[in-house]
Amino acid sequence: MNVSARGRKGHFRTVAFDEARNTVDLIEQRLLPHTFRIVKMADYKATAAAIRDMVVRGAGAIGATAAFGLAQGARAFRGGAMGAFQKHLDRVQRTLAEARPTAVDPVNALAQVRKAASAGATVAEQKALALAAARAFAEEDVDHCAAIGTHGAPLIREGMNILTHCNAGWLAFVDIGTATAPLYAAQSEGRRFHVFCDETRPRCQGASLTAWELAQQGISHQVIADNAAGFLFSRGEIDLVIVGSDRVLGRTGEVANKIGTYTKAVLARRHGIPFYVAIPLSTIDWELESGGAIPIEERAGDEVLGAWGVTPAGRRQYVRIANPSSKAFNPGFDVTPPDLITGIITPAGIFAPGDLWKRRAVLRGE
Ligand code: MRU
Repeated sequence: MNVSARGRKGHFRTVAFDEARNTVDLIEQRLLPHTFRIVKMADYKATAAAIRDMVVRGAGAIGATAAFGLAQGARAFRGGAMGAFQKHLDRVQRTLAEARPTAVDPVNALAQVRKAASAGATVAEQKALALAAARAFAEEDVDHCAAIGTHGAPLIREGMNILTHCNAGWLAFVDIGTATAPLYAAQSEGRRFHVFCDETRPRCQGASLTAWELAQQGISHQVIADNAAGFLFSRGEIDLVIVGSDRVLGRTGEVANKIGTYTKAVLARRHGIPFYVAIPLSTIDWELESGGAIPIEERAGDEVLGAWGVTPAGRRQYVRIANPSSKAFNPGFDVTPPDLITGIITPAGIFAPGDLWKRRAVLRGE
């Protein structure tokens, strides 16, 4: 996506790989929207920490970061002993997979890279295949987001008000994004519309990241408090909802996404407003049989008890909001049942959530 920062314009991807330095290069999302900075992760442990600490976040972006992290770890191995190399890869894969639990994209990305690497007869061949597979995952992420834009753009009509939650924009992927892809495609087709960004407490990805992206893109938008959406729905001021997801169950159509998504889906149903979920194919989990089995990340209470911001001097700072002796419960995601979802926008078209399983041959590319 095109970024204007400090008077300069450039095209950036959220995640990239520097082959010469063997680093995973990331936009430091914790500093946005105040500072735009690319940071280099020097080894796979640093890459895993960047996922865990949310330097990079968003299902597709952490999928690509994990894929590059596995290639990075493979390339750092010294020697040619295949047994030791496989044990090393197991360790690297586990470390990256455990960094965050809810999104399935890293799991799928790591499995893809590992499978591709296993075709190599030597350690050197496996290293090269791992990097090629990580690059292919990242390119596919971009292609999938572009295709989501093509399929989703007709949903956006002139003058609409659209609600989105958290950030499923280009920062949550390698480029373009999922929930934002139909917006960007409709904009390029000349339609005008307005976006309400849920602020998305506790980490405020809507207020800080989605609002920044839409501003960069010149799309009319306003940030709303999470609690304001019901009021807007009740006044007929929301025409469409599009969100992303961290894991969609292919068997049931259940959707895990940022905490608060379920609430918005209930509100949309109450007011007869279409509710869409936009995902690349790497977000589909074909294994789990029930939404209750999705691992829901529980994050530090500090996120709820206070907030991060920037001082007038430009320094990132945490301020405590809650009563000093109180503790918090902070589930990061919730699960929306399929009957509240109008459609899942995928790179292969828009499907009713209950139809994913019936269409699995197409969606798995079999
Ligand atoms: O905790 P995050 O910021 O990684 O969570 C990301 C989300 O849940 C977003 O809602 C997004 O829609 C899904 S990731 C593409």
